[in-house]
Amino acid sequence: MPDTPYAAAAGRVRAGADPAAEAADLVALMTPDERRWCLDGDLPFWAGLDDLGKGGYHRRTFPAAQVDRLGIPGFHFSDGPRGVVIGPATCFPVSMARGATWDVDLEERIGEAIGRELRAVGADLYGGVCVNVLRHPAWGRAQETYGEDPFHIGELGAALTRGVQRHTMACVKHFALNSMENARFSVDVTVDEQALHEVFLPHFRRIVDEGVACVMSAYNAVNGEWCGQSPQLLTEVLRDEWGFTGMVISDWIFGLRDAGPSVAAGLDVEMPYRMVRAGGLDRALAEGETDEADIVAAVRRTVATLLRFAAVLAQPAPRADVLACDAHRALAREAATKSVVLLRNEPVGGTPLLPLDEAALRRLAVVGRLAAIRNLGDGGSSDVWAPDAVTPLDGLRAALPRAEVIHHDGAEPAAAASVAEWCDVAVVVVGYTRADEGEFIGDSGTSHLQELLPGPDDPELVAAFAARVEAGPHYRAPEAVAAAAAGEGPASDPGLGFAQGGDRTSLQLHPDDEALIAAVAAANPRTVVAIVAGSAVVTEAWRQSVPAVVQSWYAGMEGGHALADVLLGRAEPTGRLPFTVPIDEAHLPPFDRDADAVTYDGWHGYWRLARDGNAAAHPFGFGLSYTSLVLGDASVEVGDDGSVLVTTEARNQGSRPGTEVVQVYGGVSGTPPRLVAFARVDVPAGAAVPVQVRVAPGSFARRRVGAGGWVAAGGTHDIVVARHAEDPDARRFAVDLRP
Ligand code: BGC
Repeated sequence: MPDTPYAAAAGRVRAGADPAAEAADLVALMTPDERRWCLDGDLPFWAGLDDLGKGGYHRRTFPAAQVDRLGIPGFHFSDGPRGVVIGPATCFPVSMARGATWDVDLEERIGEAIGRELRAVGADLYGGVCVNVLRHPAWGRAQETYGEDPFHIGELGAALTRGVQRHTMACVKHFALNSMENARFSVDVTVDEQALHEVFLPHFRRIVDEGVACVMSAYNAVNGEWCGQSPQLLTEVLRDEWGFTGMVISDWIFGLRDAGPSVAAGLDVEMPYRMVRAGGLDRALAEGETDEADIVAAVRRTVATLLRFAAVLAQPAPRADVLACDAHRALAREAATKSVVLLRNEPVGGTPLLPLDEAALRRLAVVGRLAAIRNLGDGGSSDVWAPDAVTPLDGLRAALPRAEVIHHDGAEPAAAASVAEWCDVAVVVVGYTRADEGEFIGDSGTSHLQELLPGPDDPELVAAFAARVEAGPHYRAPEAVAAAAAGEGPASDPGLGFAQGGDRTSLQLHPDDEALIAAVAAANPRTVVAIVAGSAVVTEAWRQSVPAVVQSWYAGMEGGHALADVLLGRAEPTGRLPFTVPIDEAHLPPFDRDADAVTYDGWHGYWRLARDGNAAAHPFGFGLSYTSLVLGDASVEVGDDGSVLVTTEARNQGSRPGTEVVQVYGGVSGTPPRLVAFARVDVPAGAAVPVQVRVAPGSFARRRVGAGGWVAAGGTHDIVVARHAEDPDARRFAVDLRP
């Protein structure tokens, strides 16, 4: 490392010095202008925006807080979560699919792979730890988080963070209550203290406790204040209560509204450009909305974070050939395989349809427009430019070289049915694409924010931007399209046009897909439906008409192979739903994607259904297997520290290997229990594997409303050891917890 004040401080930190104290000394060496420089992204606004629209997002990192005079390297952001967005990189299954694996070890390994690729493209801050609660499955960015349950989300997000941070820094987002897309720039979420701390924040805290380097604030407002300038969230909760010592960055471009209040509230860096603060901080300082002490505090936090990670970042960056290397592709395939959730598997001719009998499979119909297209997830900030992608059709063809695998796009259901009719089996691939769900930057969402844009210092670039806004959501610059054509980025999905994204308008399949299923199932009783979606799809209209259904997600670049492996029984279906699939949307909380104001209570997901006495179509934690799994007897033991040790046995009564996800739910007796622990366990055929799961102390504590902090749990609590949230064979215990 060159001989600079920063390098010297980093050396001392490595030798045990306190990063915060070293940062304070470095910040004291800065000029006022250098400190101001650290408060926002290093790139100028209009030129940056122009580059972003031309594909720069997928080619370059976004630097901030670099001060060359002192050797301060700043950070270099790039995004996720389904991989590294600077391409061509490995595209993993989306986070929701990874949530369905319930495999924290796997998620940590994915984190390591992403961390390596991130460093290889020159970035050192990974923006892909997205952990907002799936409050309603219509949320357009559902695919970017892990599910509906805060404990489950927290464990997976912490695992990703652990893995990534072996190589680089991670950023958790969007803090907080960002669970709607179309209205994200305008909605104000009202939430009471109990719901906030018990439902919407515990997973953020888990990841802060894991040592995450950075937090990204959300676009929306909470309780009347924009998250990017909320003293309640950024200072009182995050720093004062949780003790977070890392840095806070804004969500991009419209992530804060006012320069002064954002600094005073504890938002350290405005991303990605010099925008609101560059134009408004002088006035804010003059009017006393913030002061030099706030600025110093913000810059110290940023520099301290860099120092804390200096040793990790001093590791040599991997070479570019780590991108989409064989080992990472294998990991993507493992994740895709483990994520497939078998929702239904009824007998046809006396035996369950799945796994398909390969020996008897001479002709296979693969039906649907989604069967043969690259469909890796949304087209917004999480888009990964994977060099290639295995579609369901590719995967099945590769797996069945001796069978005739016939594709029909399903545009005409009757024609598809006549193909399916003379095949041994039909696989119908239905669901969504980036046109139906995903990140959304429509004109309607941002037009009222245009006044935040800085002055037109470059009229040509401003005009180009205006044309882009005019052209509508997800305009793709000719340069980006050309890059795709040159093989640098992926071709846009053939036949689907450009992405629109946004919140879903329906939880059902498109009527065309439902008609296709009906036609094919009527023609061939051996019909399997594979659902591609980022969250729950209500299947009441057609589920009973087909023997087999799997949820196969946006499964990443190796997804087609994984689907083939599971359908053919070369791999077992081991996924479990990370959300509830309701029978009726009315069983969920209301969802208005255009709302300017919403109130979130603590009731969504499986515990809402339990409260209201509604059964799910498929409960949270549910997934079938090809073998027969049951839980053995269970016992619970309360430790002196308030932890609860659950002991049970996962039994495989069948002749195929299987994987159990032992789930422990709990809560004050009489209230719907919530997930407090889980373990994924492989169980060989015919075996019984002992399982111990520990419920951490504090898991049942309740928010002390009004006074802050937590009240330790006391009194009788239910502990439920189960295979899913509505398991009729669950083992139930009542334990007394001492407060
Ligand atoms: C998204 C963030 C993302 C950022 C940078 C924003 O529009 O909301 O999730 O990290 O862009 O890509």
